Amino acid sequence: MTDDTTVLEARELSKHYPVSTGFMKPKALVRALDGVSFTLAAGRTLAVVGESGCGKSTLARQLTMIEPPTGGALLIGTGGGARADVTHADAATKKVLRQQVQMVFQNPFASLNPRKKIGLALEEPLVINTTDGKAERRDKARAMMARVGLRPEHDARYPHMFSGGQRQRIAIARALMLQPSLVVLDEPVSALDVSIQAQVLNLLMDLQDETRVAYVFISHNLAVVELIADEVLVMYLGKVVEQAPKTTLFATPRHPYTRALLASTPRIDKAARQQRQVLSGELPSPLNPPSGCAFHKRCPYAVERCRVEVPVLQDLGGGQQVACHRVHELG
Ligand SMILES: Nc1ncnc2c1ncn2[C@@H]1O[C@H](COP(=O)(O)OP(=O)(O)O)[C@@H](O)[C@H]1O
Ligand code: SF4
Ligand SMILES: [Mg+2]
Repeated sequence: MTDDTTVLEARELSKHYPVSTGFMKPKALVRALDGVSFTLAAGRTLAVVGESGCGKSTLARQLTMIEPPTGGALLIGTGGGARADVTHADAATKKVLRQQVQMVFQNPFASLNPRKKIGLALEEPLVINTTDGKAERRDKARAMMARVGLRPEHDARYPHMFSGGQRQRIAIARALMLQPSLVVLDEPVSALDVSIQAQVLNLLMDLQDETRVAYVFISHNLAVVELIADEVLVMYLGKVVEQAPKTTLFATPRHPYTRALLASTPRIDKAARQQRQVLSGELPSPLNPPSGCAFHKRCPYAVERCRVEVPVLQDLGGGQQVACHRVHELG
């Protein structure tokens, strides 16, 4: 469902990479992202979870237009309820879209120039995208530093003079300088100490309340997701296997893979955990994914049908969708 507040819509979004399989051999396709659909409204957080290699960062690269998708459509809000399809946008529209979508990475060192004073790093998006003068840019950068809990008078310091948590605050500040409608955060707190993680997550939630920015929050840590998400998308080998509002997903997960993921999270109550199967085996290669349900080799409930037929997402009501042949039998 979409309406005026929808800032992001993915329709059957795909990214297939041709990869070499050896000298003189035909190229194979890695289906890193394979027909993913969802919508996201202003002021909301969509968490994307799944094991390493399931396509989370590939999704982030499509949303932030670092790479073009190989299939499907990606619509992003351009302000005032209008949206544009990234794949068909002209240069001027792309420029607007690039301001609307910003990114925060796991390692803020990778995105901050070590030789640039952080005040100037924050001003940089304004230099490129606005006609703001020097004094105005400096004021905006310092105001943003204060908003993310940094001392504005530290604007002449270099990245290495800040702690990991402070550097991630700088990265968040930089992402917000152009008042984007969407920020994609790829494992933004995974590299931080647990005590610092909570502070950064609280900051992100406060900033969202103030600005109504939407977040796509990528994480393998379900405890973090439980805190910050409104909606959760569970991915397996490039496909969505379950999507639901957070409370539904944590209370009544329906896909065997989601249940297994939750079972390995320490925050679930003990009685619930004991009923659940722990995830066994490794993620198969996306170059040669299993037939039928890609999860069948690891699924304790797999039957013959799972081996031959790809399950499609079924709507279970209440915003919950699950791709499993046996979802109704398993309850
Ligand atoms: N540029 C690329 N070329 C070929 N394969 C890629 C490329 N980028 C990612 N992949 C593959 O796509 C799959 C998904 O990767 P990625 O999106 O990084 O997963 P995640 O972020 O969930 O760990 C992996 O199998 C990865 O090896
Ligand atoms: S479709 Fe079959 S193999 Fe896949 S999750 Fe459901 S029961 Fe398991
Ligand atoms: Mg990744």
